[in-house]
Amino acid sequence: RITAIRALQILDSRGYPTLRVQLEIDTGAVFEASAPSGASTGAHEAVELRDGGTPFSGRGVTGALASVTGEISNLLTSRPWVSQRELDEALCALDGTGNKSRLGANALVAVSMAAARGFAAGTGHSLHTWISQALGRAERLPVPHFNVLNGGQHAANALAFQEFMIAPVGAATYPQALEWGADIYHALAATLRTRGLATGLGDEGGYAPEISSPEEALDLIVSGIDAAGHRPGISEVAIALDPAANSFFQDGSYHLNGRHYTPSQMVSYYGKLLDNYPIRSLEDPLAEDDAESWPELVSALGGRAQIVGDDLFVTQAARVTAGIRSGSATAVLIKPNQVGTVTETLETLAVASAGGFTAMVSHRSGETTDTFVADLTVGSGCGQLKAGAPARGERVAKYNRLLEIADSNPALPYGLAILSGEGDTD
Ligand code: PGA
Ligand code: ZN
Repeated sequence: RITAIRALQILDSRGYPTLRVQLEIDTGAVFEASAPSGASTGAHEAVELRDGGTPFSGRGVTGALASVTGEISNLLTSRPWVSQRELDEALCALDGTGNKSRLGANALVAVSMAAARGFAAGTGHSLHTWISQALGRAERLPVPHFNVLNGGQHAANALAFQEFMIAPVGAATYPQALEWGADIYHALAATLRTRGLATGLGDEGGYAPEISSPEEALDLIVSGIDAAGHRPGISEVAIALDPAANSFFQDGSYHLNGRHYTPSQMVSYYGKLLDNYPIRSLEDPLAEDDAESWPELVSALGGRAQIVGDDLFVTQAARVTAGIRSGSATAVLIKPNQVGTVTETLETLAVASAGGFTAMVSHRSGETTDTFVADLTVGSGCGQLKAGAPARGERVAKYNRLLEIADSNPALPYGLAILSGEGDTD
């Protein structure tokens, strides 16, 4: 039973405020969680409550903090809660809006994640095992997708695509994948220096050199993989892209490399990238406002790469269901704070796998050292996590949490998940 709730306005990895919440229960145990925050957000995400005004450029969260220590605390300490679902449904009802804008999705997600840690502890299981039981899925250590070159809204350079990731698909174990990722990250820095390019970092810890074309970035990454002694390849060290195309879509066309591309021209352009580079995954290759073009892209390229909806689906089950019906993608990106509660996040994972979609769990560009997404990835068995570069405290917190899980669960399989229907291993 929850006896007290505390909240603190802390700083995230970009130096903007976010919320840390602690739930205390009658045994004296305390469960904590912190809310992350995105920069390239989808229009349909659950709404963060921000104070406005001058402090912290209007990004203070004292209003969201007051939601937690006021109304939410009153509700949650008023009676015992039998399940995460019951608690999350009560939180949504208390908020009363469709998009969490009254109490704030930042308030709700932190409370919901802290409560999940409490429910897991109550069963005597780790958070990842509790999640796997809630979903009825086999646990799995994911292929980490390390974001090693940053552009778009996460860097000040002229690179339109937001994220260039490396995925050590061919590693035998998770610790080996982490080693490959770190080695390639450092080899890439050396490659950049050799070419006179800067090794300053973007928001997710990847390098942000002054380059502008996706091909230049991909050539650099391939060189970095080679220089680290690994083989660039779809089943060795693969590449994943998050162009986050909302940010270069304007008036019906995509503004890239000094040209304007129609949606169909973008599809051909991605086809050429797939011809020339070992790309296994494309996230938000088209804009959310260009939803009608997604099925064309999936028809053309869906058999060659995973097509992931992030801004398109914003972790919301109803939007994923619509996307499955229309064939708009083949995968969903999972960010708990896009929807606002753990229960809704798990629902979206369940809907995705029932519809034959794969899933990738994700951090946000503004992060804390909270490691919830690492456990969520293992418990969901989805086999894919993106948590930024293999560097910087808020990013390595997630990768190091996976090391800890791997170390204490030596029998856990590592790698991409096999789609249900192709023989899930439960
Ligand atoms: P965000 O970006 O956290 O800034 O929204 C991450 C992404 O687009 O995947
Ligand atoms: Zn994205």
